Amino acid sequence: MYVVLLGPPGVGKGTQGVFLTTRPDWTRIVTGDLLRDSVASDSILGLEAEKYMIQGRLVPDELIVALVRDHLINRQSDANLVFDGFPRTKLQASELTKMLELLGKSMDTVVVLEAEDQALVERISGRRSCPDCKAIYNIHTSPPEKSGVCDNDDSVLIHRTDDDPETVASRLEVYRSETEPVIRYYEEIGSRVCRVDGNKDICEVRTRITQALALEKI
Ligand code: AP5
Repeated sequence: MYVVLLGPPGVGKGTQGVFLTTRPDWTRIVTGDLLRDSVASDSILGLEAEKYMIQGRLVPDELIVALVRDHLINRQSDANLVFDGFPRTKLQASELTKMLELLGKSMDTVVVLEAEDQALVERISGRRSCPDCKAIYNIHTSPPEKSGVCDNDDSVLIHRTDDDPETVASRLEVYRSETEPVIRYYEEIGSRVCRVDGNKDICEVRTRITQALALEKI
């Protein structure tokens, strides 16, 4: 099953994507993490991408499509694949459709997580992430056992540089103008689009996604 997790910044795509990939044979392509790793390694892609990320703007389509194409080639035999953070523009979506067609696959379900802006801003302000294993915490609602340190590997947790209020406002604006049209794109090509209320607590959202994808409970 191929699934896209769509939704505004902070709605819980990463959190829910991790749950999905705790299932056997489920993997993810997370463009935000791939880009942050590129930035951390000072690669040419990272240096270019960082200029956009720190302003809350989208990295140009051609760079992202090439990045996903590279990763998809290595993942084409994966039975179940979750796209988290991609596609984010109509052009990215149509390029993904073409890439999947070449592999003889198609998108099964698009899960759209929705939540109020106020909740998103609060969640993002409390988010802390592990730069190594990518685990996601929240200092208010889901803190690590030891303050500031990842439960999995003891790495020092970070507050993302694009999580300041000004950049978050810009990311929300970009979501409305560039990424919401992707939902219509999938509706128009006849994909299954499931809207899930992301205002609910993490467990409830997880249950609703499991139901939307008709997966067994684990
Ligand atoms: P990316 O990393 O993809 O950021 P985003 O889409 O803005 O999403 P976030 O990672 O901020 O949020 P999330 O929905 O994953 O929420 P999370 O689970 O962490 O992209 C970053 C940048 O990279 C972009 O701005 C762009 O520049 C670039 N980029 C990436 N992909 C690109 C593309 N395809 N094209 C062009 N540019 C691209 O949860 C947030 C917090 O809330 C956590 O603390 C969590 O614990 C908490 N939480 C989660 N769910 C709940 C809940 N139900 N109730 C209460 N708290 C919750």
